[in-house]
Amino acid sequence: MKVLGIESSCDETGIAVYDNKSGEIWQRLYSQIEKHREYGGVVPELASRDHVVKAAPMLVEILREIGGIDAIDAIAYTRGPGLIGALMVGANLARGLAWALDKPMLGVHHMEGHLLAPMLSGERPKLPFVALLVSGGHTMLVDVRELGDYRILGESLDDAVGEAFDKTAKLLGLSYPGGPELAALADSIAVSRFEFPRPMTNRPGLDFSFSGLKTAALNIVRQHQPLDEVLRAEVAHAFQCAVVDTLRIKCKRALEETGYQQLVVAGGVGANRQLREALVRQVAELSGRVVFPALEYCTDNGAMIAYAGALRLAQGQTDENVSDVLARWSLESLPAIGA
Ligand code: KG4
Ligand code: ZN
Repeated sequence: MKVLGIESSCDETGIAVYDNKSGEIWQRLYSQIEKHREYGGVVPELASRDHVVKAAPMLVEILREIGGIDAIDAIAYTRGPGLIGALMVGANLARGLAWALDKPMLGVHHMEGHLLAPMLSGERPKLPFVALLVSGGHTMLVDVRELGDYRILGESLDDAVGEAFDKTAKLLGLSYPGGPELAALADSIAVSRFEFPRPMTNRPGLDFSFSGLKTAALNIVRQHQPLDEVLRAEVAHAFQCAVVDTLRIKCKRALEETGYQQLVVAGGVGANRQLREALVRQVAELSGRVVFPALEYCTDNGAMIAYAGALRLAQGQTDENVSDVLARWSLESLPAIGA
């Protein structure tokens, strides 16, 4: 079965086709980052308009590659969570196609797409496992008992970790989205004179709070005007160390509390090199295994939506009568995927 996947929840237009028999993937990805950069963040209306302009031509290119529209067996799109206007563009394209072609369709949960992304490159984490989802909009630890059976173990009470990276990067004069640039600046030095707190690690529980780290960075920046290059790198380094260490401590705790041996890391911040290395070391210490998506599938993409959709569509799940999109949508409310 060839499943078309359409992702448009934020500032990336992702169109992909996933063949669940051969594992083949055809995909196009367009990032709107340049459009939003001058505003220092995503402007929802501009995001929606750009999805409208880009999605259909990208779809036409992919259809050419797979031998035409008749090769599509089913259609998956991101139903939420995300920016309403942006989601509506992808959802309406998907629904129009599904109705016109009389093919089954299904709205996919964006975070389930992220969570299953490691499987796109053939990685099969053994169930049950703990998933760490770290993106620009979400930070959560999830107990994955079965595919589709999710229990949130902990989440951020304020900023998502990617958001904290981006806001701190902005303070340091880096352009949006600053996560990767902040990481590069942090990695340019080996030590920092600053030590940031590891929020919420000295009390039980698996929730996170990252807004205090941004404030810690802000205080230093205010006290050290004008900022020189070394100080910027030291703030970035201290910030990244604190984030990575906090995530490591909470992942260790989640594995210990659940008794699971497998950790799956997904979402844009999962591309962070220090985080990957720290988690590999930590999980090895617990004699467990950590699985990451390929770097190209860490950030938003259509392939992860096609893949998650294919798993559910193969079980006969469809949502022909659904006509909304969801800005908020709990992972826990999803039905199990089944056999
Ligand atoms: O998953 P994603 O592409 O989009 C959302 O669904 O939010 O994640 C984007 C986030 C941004 O905040 C970006 O700055 C961050 O992931 N990010 C990174 C790195 N690469 C992307 N943060 C830290 N280090 C990185 N290497
Ligand atoms: Zn995402």
